[in-house]
Amino acid sequence: MLNFDFHNPTRILFGQGRIADIGQHVPAQARVLILVGGASAERSGTLGRARQALDGRVHDTFSGIEPNPSFETCLQAVQRVREGGFDFLLAVGGGSVIDAAKFIAAAVCFDGDPWEILQKRGRNIHAALPFGTVLTLPATGSEMNNGSVITHRERGSKLAFSSPHTYPRFSVLDPAKTYTLPIKQLANGVVDAYVHTMEQYLTYPANAPVQDRFAEGLLRTLIEVGPRIVAAPEPVYDDRASLMWAATMALNGLIGVGVPQDWATHMIGHELTALHHIDHARTLALVLPAMLNERRDAKRAKLLQYAERVWDLREGSEDARIDAAIERTRAFFESLGIPTRLSAYRLGGETVDAVIAQLQAHGMTQLGEHRDVTPEVSRRVLEAAL
Ligand code: NZQ
Ligand code: ZN
Repeated sequence: MLNFDFHNPTRILFGQGRIADIGQHVPAQARVLILVGGASAERSGTLGRARQALDGRVHDTFSGIEPNPSFETCLQAVQRVREGGFDFLLAVGGGSVIDAAKFIAAAVCFDGDPWEILQKRGRNIHAALPFGTVLTLPATGSEMNNGSVITHRERGSKLAFSSPHTYPRFSVLDPAKTYTLPIKQLANGVVDAYVHTMEQYLTYPANAPVQDRFAEGLLRTLIEVGPRIVAAPEPVYDDRASLMWAATMALNGLIGVGVPQDWATHMIGHELTALHHIDHARTLALVLPAMLNERRDAKRAKLLQYAERVWDLREGSEDARIDAAIERTRAFFESLGIPTRLSAYRLGGETVDAVIAQLQAHGMTQLGEHRDVTPEVSRRVLEAAL
């Protein structure tokens, strides 16, 4: 196991009705700017509950944060924070609203051009406004981590940053707040959490059985509850609770400590979203099966472990087990209604060229746990995903 520091300061308020407890975790004199996306938070009543829970504190609402939040919209929010003298942010929404809150919180305290935050991947953040979140879409893990992904619409760049200053102070995880989600977003959530787990688990053995067993437990949970959630005629609280907690645990740092990490699938996926506006999780389903196959030698030991412990594949040659594990992964995504081929989006060879050019422009030329996923490797992965 590699050396590590682990410090996650985010308080989780889990369960039905927990929005009511927000007031205990926001300073009494705070001036709060609530951040929301489109109309979903208002329509579901979640925004109203959050306002109520602020218990008379001065607050206002900034709405219009789009999926794959834009740098441009975030800057408008920064201006609103400054003009209104707000000193606490409350994000009510999915990963996009929470990611935007992180960027806004840092940009308000940043001297200079906020684009530099993304250029430096957050290493130049020295302070940020405090913020809490009310999660309405289990998927990204943003509610309990310090990472964020922001898109510069004009440049077509989708870039991630992180900082010790951008952990939420608290996050409310109420599984009942997912009941209004369309099936498509629930399926996206299952796949995003699955691929987060894979990016930290499926590398090479690091003598880290605790992290491995946690990761395998998350993968098996998602395989169990994902299809049930997508097929259920009515929402089932316990399944929603399992998905919500699995998605949070998949990317709150715990399973990634002391082990090598990959993230190549995510970096390629971000370019597909920036170029073609495909939902984040859907880009991952396009890339991951082809990536696992392309890198089957470097990942051999872990692929065999994955085949046995996650898919119960114990028969046949090593290569046959690896093939079957990759096929099961692909079939799992497809069973949730998520395509694993670029052709499903009518995309062909020209997309491959465009993604590779963007990866090069963003310096994503040495990806993966061995830094050996060069643009040539990424090209083969995308060509195999056509
Ligand atoms: O905008 P509103 O009206 O809120 O509608 C949203 C949006 O259209 C809707 N929605 C959310 N909660 C709902 C709901 N609709 C009905 N009922 C509810 N309870 O769902 C749509 C998608 O929301 P979004 O926040 O964009 O989805 P998600 O949570 O999947 O977030 C995706 C973003 O997170 C980034 C992605 O790149 C993408 O930009 N990621 C962030 C990560 C992190 N911070 O750690 C890691 C991830 O790998 C990912 O990159
Ligand atoms: Zn993701």
